[in-house]
Amino acid sequence: MENTLCIIKPDAVKNGHIEDINKKIEASGIEIIKSKRLTLQKDTAEEFYAEHSERPFFSELVDFMTSGDCVIQILQGDDVIARYRELMGATNPNEAVDGTLRKLFASSLGENAVHGSDSKQSAEREIAIMKNLF
Ligand code: CMP
Repeated sequence: MENTLCIIKPDAVKNGHIEDINKKIEASGIEIIKSKRLTLQKDTAEEFYAEHSERPFFSELVDFMTSGDCVIQILQGDDVIARYRELMGATNPNEAVDGTLRKLFASSLGENAVHGSDSKQSAEREIAIMKNLF
């Protein structure tokens, strides 16, 4: 059994997709064990995305992630990190496979509806950053 960190991002929240996204997560056999709707503070978003701090899109990313409510979730299941990433689809929705969350609900690379940890190490780090928010 494994855990991963999922964020339903401000674009998907504003567009009313929380329930549709969570139905697809649960239909794939993944359990949502924690869920909290909140607006991220700037310092939390900066820490969370620290690996991108030197990238040209970093300030745009932090501004977007703090622009409105997100839903922060911990997902659980066998091999859930890889399974949830497959369900999300490619980072760029234009490259995402039909039926994936980003194909269905995202509008651009920057506003791509959902986040999911990309490895066991990232999942542990990301859950540790977010766990006191639940
Ligand atoms: P996410 O999976 O949350 O991880 C980092 C995020 O940075 C990514 O989704 C994208 O939303 C965002 N991102 C990646 N590349 C770019 C880019 N070139 N311009 C804007 N945002 C980007």
